[in-house]
This record gives sequence, C-alpha cells and structure tokens, in this order.
Amino acid sequence: MKKGIELLATGSALPAKVVTNEDLRRLVDTSDEWIVKRTGIRERRHCVGENQFSLAAGAAQAALERSGVDPARVAACIVTTICADNISPSCACLLQRALGLPEQTVCFDLNGACAGFVYGLQVISGLLTEDRPYGILVSSETLSRLSDFTDRSTCVLFGDGAGAAVVGLCDSPYGLCGDFGSRSNREVLYIPSATASEPSYIHMEGQAVFKFAVDIIPRCIDRVLQQAGLTMDGVDLVVMHQANARIIDHVAKHLKLPPEKCFKNIARYGNMSSACIPIALDDLYREGRLSAGMRLLPVGFGGGLTWGGALLEVGDIK
Ligand code: UT7
Repeated sequence: MKKGIELLATGSALPAKVVTNEDLRRLVDTSDEWIVKRTGIRERRHCVGENQFSLAAGAAQAALERSGVDPARVAACIVTTICADNISPSCACLLQRALGLPEQTVCFDLNGACAGFVYGLQVISGLLTEDRPYGILVSSETLSRLSDFTDRSTCVLFGDGAGAAVVGLCDSPYGLCGDFGSRSNREVLYIPSATASEPSYIHMEGQAVFKFAVDIIPRCIDRVLQQAGLTMDGVDLVVMHQANARIIDHVAKHLKLPPEKCFKNIARYGNMSSACIPIALDDLYREGRLSAGMRLLPVGFGGGLTWGGALLEVGDIK
C-alpha cells in the first residue's frame, strides 16, 4: 500500500473584532453592494489585541488537543505565513514551546502565499516517519497589517485569522497526489517587506490575478485527479482558497461541480491568504461535515504567483 496524508484534527482562531462592509464604507469610497456583488465578502476580522503568533497558537493548540496526539510523536511543525511577527525566530519555533513539542521536531515557517497551506501539506508529508508519523500545519495571517486603508481596490478584500491541521501518514490506495507550481511575477501581486524603501502594503492587479486563478485551478484539479486515478465523483469536497466567491463559482461551473461540493465561507472572513483553507476545514469540522474516509481536494493560488492542489484523506477525525 502507498503512503498518503490524512487529516486528523482541525483548529482555528479568529480576532474578536468584526469589520463589516459598512465599517469600510466610512474609510473609502465603496459600498456594501459593490463588495458583496464583486467578491461575496460581507465581513472580515481584524486584529486589535491579537497578533500573528497568538492566532497561530490558538489554532494549533485547539487542533493538537482535539487530535489526542502525543506531542512526542510530532515530527514537524510548519507555519505558513506572509505576515510573521518576527523574521527570527520563526513562528513555528515559538509554537514548539507553546505546544510542548520535543527538541527533535523540525520547526520552520514557509512562504507560499495563498498556496501556503497546500505547499505545507506536501512538505510536511516528507518529514513524517513511522516512529513519529504526525505533523502540525498551521497557517496564520494578519493581512489587515499589510492593507492600505486608502486603497479601496485592496483594503476591502483581506482579513486576519489562523487555521491549523494535525495530519498523519496513512496507508492509501492513491498515495501522495498533488500538483504544485509557480510562475515568477512581481507585476500583478506584490507586498514589499518591512525593510523595503516603500510602505509594506498589498499591491494587486485584481483582474490579472482573477484570470490566473480561473485558468490554473481547473487544470490543477484535473492533474491531481489523474494522479489519484479518480474522477470528481470520487472527491467529497473541493476546498478552494477564498479569494473571491466569483472565482469559486466560475471554477464550479466549469467543472460542473454541484454547490454542495464546493465549500465557501468568504462572506464571513474575506481573503486570509494561506489561512483560508485550514479555517474552511475547521468550519467544515464544526458543521459536522467531515468524517473518516472522505476525500478532500484543497486548492490554493496567489502571490508568487503560486498554486497547489492535493488530495487530503480524512482519517479518524476527532
Ligand atoms: O489571494 C490572492 C489572490 N487574489 C485574488 O485571487 C484576487 C482576484 N481578483 C479579484 O478578486 C477581483 O479582480 C477584485 C475583487 C480584486 C476586483 O473586482 P473586479 O470585478 O475585477 O473589479 P475591477 O478591478 O475591474 O474594478 C472595476 C471597478 C473600477 O472602477 P471603474 O474604473 O470601472 O470606474 C474600480 O475602481 O470597480 C472599482 N472598484 C471599486 N468600487 C467600489 C474597485 N474596488 C472597489 C471598491 N468599491 N472596493
């Protein structure tokens, strides 16, 4: 039997402060109608007392506790983020202590932008061993800190949050199936770092990124299905990065996916970069929609430009 990767527990943490479209209308020339119609977003969360690490810790602790996994058997802790509070130590190294993970745990942060969680799934699967078959993958983003609240074309889109998954190696008839890539491009989406000479704000050519997304997602999904020898009938849920409800609907229509197979929670949180997919997984868990034996297909895409899709089997989820 081949080795695959399975989801054993989820967790999430969100800032307390809810920011509605109406709140943003007071800052920039926008409207609830425009934001809902063009993106599907109704509200998002912004950090006030929380930060990128505290959200990561909240999500990771919830997932680890729920999993019942002994921290001594965790081989790797990866945090995907483009918003780390510190360049060093990594958020993952700080989590090691908070979670009580042993010294032998590999801990590092990974920047795959909005494809980060799916990149992380692929990377973490290579670090798990028979003795220590568990990994903690956390995605924590505080995009409100990188938003220019004078730019209506970007500031209405993004929110803050963290999601976490405890994953494990499993026997699988499919093995590790994933399709990943990048297309070097600074023109359509970039965020200078805090050390750059310009302010660290998100710059995006929305339409160009939209076109990239609706082109790459169906091709990525097809390639994952081909590797697994599955058709879409063999997949229970496609969990796409929540950048725009119109992107999700466009892909669903193209692939003839029924709405119940395409999870959407963008209305409540906006775009939280790599945190969207694990928060979606935790929402699904809390809605009682995940059970052992299900096959999920998370797909991320975004800055880089990057994309990634993978088959994620649901294990004995707690
Ligand atoms: O997570 C990383 C990946 N990111 C994405 O996947 C984002 C992909 N792109 C998108 O989701 C969409 O392109 C956006 C939501 C960013 C923009 O929607 P759009 O339908 O592509 O709008 P647009 O940029 O073509 O702008 C249309 C109009 C413009 O006005 P004019 O020039 O037609 O007069 C904009 O100035 O909408 C205007 N506009 C707004 N109006 C009210 C842009 N932002 C706003 C706003 N409120 N917040």
